Amino acid sequence: MTDQDGGASGACPWHAEAVPLYETVNEPDRNRVWDALRSRFGQVAPVLLEPDLPAWLLLGYEENLEVMRDWGTYSRDTRRWNEIRDGRRKLDAGLRPAMGYRASALYADGAEHARLLAPITDALGRLTDTRIRTDITEAADRLIDDFCAEGRADLVADYADLLPALLMNRFFGLEDTYGYVLGELSGIIWTADGARGADAVVQLRNYFAGLVQHKRAHPGPDLTSWMMAHPTGLTDAEVIDQLVLLSGAAQEPTANLLGNVLRELLTDPEIAREYASGGLLLDEIVNHVIWTEPPMQVLSARFPTRDVVIDGTPVAEGEPLLLGFAPAHADPRLGRPDDDSGSPLPSGHNSAHLTWGAGEHRCPAQSLARQIVGIGIERLLDRLSGVRLAVDAAELRWRPELMSRGLAELPIEFTPVDPPVRHVERPVGPDDGPAEPEPEPNDLLHRVMRWWQGSGRRRRP
Ligand code: HEM
Repeated sequence: MTDQDGGASGACPWHAEAVPLYETVNEPDRNRVWDALRSRFGQVAPVLLEPDLPAWLLLGYEENLEVMRDWGTYSRDTRRWNEIRDGRRKLDAGLRPAMGYRASALYADGAEHARLLAPITDALGRLTDTRIRTDITEAADRLIDDFCAEGRADLVADYADLLPALLMNRFFGLEDTYGYVLGELSGIIWTADGARGADAVVQLRNYFAGLVQHKRAHPGPDLTSWMMAHPTGLTDAEVIDQLVLLSGAAQEPTANLLGNVLRELLTDPEIAREYASGGLLLDEIVNHVIWTEPPMQVLSARFPTRDVVIDGTPVAEGEPLLLGFAPAHADPRLGRPDDDSGSPLPSGHNSAHLTWGAGEHRCPAQSLARQIVGIGIERLLDRLSGVRLAVDAAELRWRPELMSRGLAELPIEFTPVDPPVRHVERPVGPDDGPAEPEPEPNDLLHRVMRWWQGSGRRRRP
């Protein structure tokens, strides 16, 4: 919004009323927060992401959909943010990661977006169904082997947080040891500890720079090599940025969704019974959780390329619009499509939710994400018997996050069982994974490994 001097809107009148969203992170019933904002402001509310970071939060289903679909009017490029454009902030100075910028497809519009996205979607498309199923199963089994003899585990730290990282690391073309490192680094980046976070970012860059260097010398049937060889001709720096996007986009939402579905199965006996007897399919339970506890509840951001009016509220060019998935799913105009308050069981059939996004940036890996969650849960329930929560359900806590929705921990107990001795047989297609033993990694990857070994990790692969 422009003020009378034609300057940009530090002084937007709506933002005088902005609600400090960061103060609501410990509110367990998020719908109360969305309802209160909606009744006060309508379908778009002025909020503060941080004490000095004003933004608009889209609350309505239609409004979110419209903003995601109309990429000509609503840019994904953070450099269009009025605070950056007018020099009040710098993109590389202490911004929360979600509001930062990288030269990846996620932050690009139009032709540049298509250029950067093609190597990603083409590489993902080369992963065969056999390879996907085998790698998810092996990665899940490896994690379960680590704790199955103990009779207890934290399904967030020991399983959900590690499975996507272990899998993506395999798809990137490195042996599992580095998957544990990738899981560790991705986790630290989301914690509030700034110093550890900065250290982890350095190691994550080493991981991807080392990975690209390694694959330059030893290409293989993996996402990294396929992206490097793609006809688009990405530079190494561009490949690194797209790999950072892939790993970040895969990790947090998939880990959260896996944890949130496991929570539903462990805390709702009716749903667990129906699932066990075949009355409810896992996909239906996943859909239900996606509506009620979406793994990303708020997502950043779109920047209007001109002044617009949304549900009667003027929003100026360059002011950040946060996508509100959780508020949109609770939009009363939808009639609460998967609310189970009236019935003991969710319908699970309505897949018109916004969780995969919409428009040109919609998630290119929905099916892969669903398979990680589905196979991840099947392996766990096949391998362990007598699984039950180790604490009262009321003691489970959500991580105090504004954007993502995931549990702090999910402690379980079960009947201890020794891990089996494994004879791994790989599939044999040309794109199905390494047939030869992996060659020695390079200096940068060694550095990441040394950092990890010195960081006092609990689990050793
Ligand atoms: C439950 C799991 C997942 C959820 C809920 C999810 C959701 C989303 C959403 C909402 C977007 C759009 C972001 C925007 O419009 O700003 C997106 C984009 C993306 N996702 Fe996913 N995702 C998941 C898993 C994955 C996985 C496993 C991968 C990769 C293997 C992946 C790769 C990507 C990429 C590369 C983009 C950027 C697409 C673009 O900018 O054009 N996602 N995802």
